Amino acid sequence: MSRKYHIITYGCQMNEHDSENIAGLLEAMGYKHCDDPYKADVTVINTCSVRENADKRFFGTLGQFKKIRKNDPDFVLAVCGCMPQQPRVVEEINKRFSWVDIVFGTQNIAEFPRLLEERLKTGRRMRSIIANNPDITEDGMKPVRMHRHKALVNITYGCNNFCTYCIVPYTRGREKSRALPDICKEIKGLVSEGVIEVMLLGQNVDSYRDAAGNTFADLIKAVNEIEGIERIRFMTSHPRDISDDMIECFKTCDKLCHNIHLPVQSGSDRILKRMNRHYDREQYLTIVDKLRKVCPDITISTDIIVGFPGETEEDFEETLDIARKVRYDSAFTFIYSPREGTPAAKFEDQIPDEVCHERFDRLVDVMNTISFEKNQEYKGNIYEVIAEGISDKDDKAISGRTDGFKLVNFTTDKAPEELKGRKVKVRITESKTFSLEGIEVTE
Ligand code: SAH
Ligand code: SF4
Ligand code: F3S
Repeated sequence: MSRKYHIITYGCQMNEHDSENIAGLLEAMGYKHCDDPYKADVTVINTCSVRENADKRFFGTLGQFKKIRKNDPDFVLAVCGCMPQQPRVVEEINKRFSWVDIVFGTQNIAEFPRLLEERLKTGRRMRSIIANNPDITEDGMKPVRMHRHKALVNITYGCNNFCTYCIVPYTRGREKSRALPDICKEIKGLVSEGVIEVMLLGQNVDSYRDAAGNTFADLIKAVNEIEGIERIRFMTSHPRDISDDMIECFKTCDKLCHNIHLPVQSGSDRILKRMNRHYDREQYLTIVDKLRKVCPDITISTDIIVGFPGETEEDFEETLDIARKVRYDSAFTFIYSPREGTPAAKFEDQIPDEVCHERFDRLVDVMNTISFEKNQEYKGNIYEVIAEGISDKDDKAISGRTDGFKLVNFTTDKAPEELKGRKVKVRITESKTFSLEGIEVTE
């Protein structure tokens, strides 16, 4: 009987894609996927550290494996991702969670098969973390992808921005852009496997620049030329680095989806400065204007942090104000969470929890009202949706995404398997805050 693996993934798309690569490495070693993390021979926990609740969830999960490991000495538990890139975490694992067999980081995933083999051969605990690997590569990786029709594609690794609240530059190392021809080669390979939609990934895609001097706009134009690709998305844009050339791509590149995730983080110039974001509200609003001029139906989503150290009621109202000015289609809102080792964690004027929660609730109210109102504009119209599978909310409906990334749950006569990855025309019959409902149109 073949050995089985399970991967638990927390965090962002970058982690999701790392897990796809890890699955590929395990399958190359002969392992088969299984759904139960407690019944596998190898379970990998791919961790995130962006906020404190991510830390808590991780340590909670680790605790649950103590008994499994005790009852089955052959079971292997591996931990990877952003948590162990911080020395304090590895120390804590070694001290309090001795049943963790293997620990590796975000920069040396390719090393995992060797660590696993050595663990199985010697029974030794394996730890291998590289703080900042300039040779990080995906060459030779054969990811086991979550979806058949759409794929995550790394274009940059790491981050050089050092926003003062953020742990990512410490867990992912310095920014490095992959060569444009390598990215295009990977995408052409994906097309031959049935992929029609790509999500280009980077912590700041706009600072992409490869050794030959190609920019992010050059990359989008090149991907737009690849036959078989029908939708191009990217994540995440940084208002500091977004270029007019890139914005123009929304007009000139027909496959580029009319959607952008453009984190604003705060609407107050004073707070943006303390966050080290390198733009002010006027510059941000100018970018939004340009985007809407070039691409009138573009959907815009954002990330906002509430309760950053020193945030006054006036600063917060500036955030509410910019949200009302931009009228976001959707927003991810977070309460500021101090991260050890980042500059903001040492700022003295931390905001009390009650104030954070009160502001958070007010912001969510404003954001949800806007999302709901914007979604009403879709009612009665027909949109092209790429079907993804049975809806999480209603097992009689299929869900999919519009070009603008709106989630649509729709009914159809066809079997879900038949529709997966296919373009479907859907008439919107109902608009909610976070999704649209509709029915397939087949004239
Ligand atoms: N590279 C991306 C996002 C990375 S993290 C970017 O720059 O937009 C995703 C989001 O988590 C961030 O946009 C930010 O809003 C939030 N975030 C990061 N660190 C945080 C912290 N310490 N507390 C609360 N939210 C945080
Ligand atoms: Fe973090 Fe800022 Fe880098 Fe995004 S750009 S990953 S928020 S440091
Ligand atoms: Fe989390 Fe690391 Fe992504 S901290 S958000 S998994 S880059």
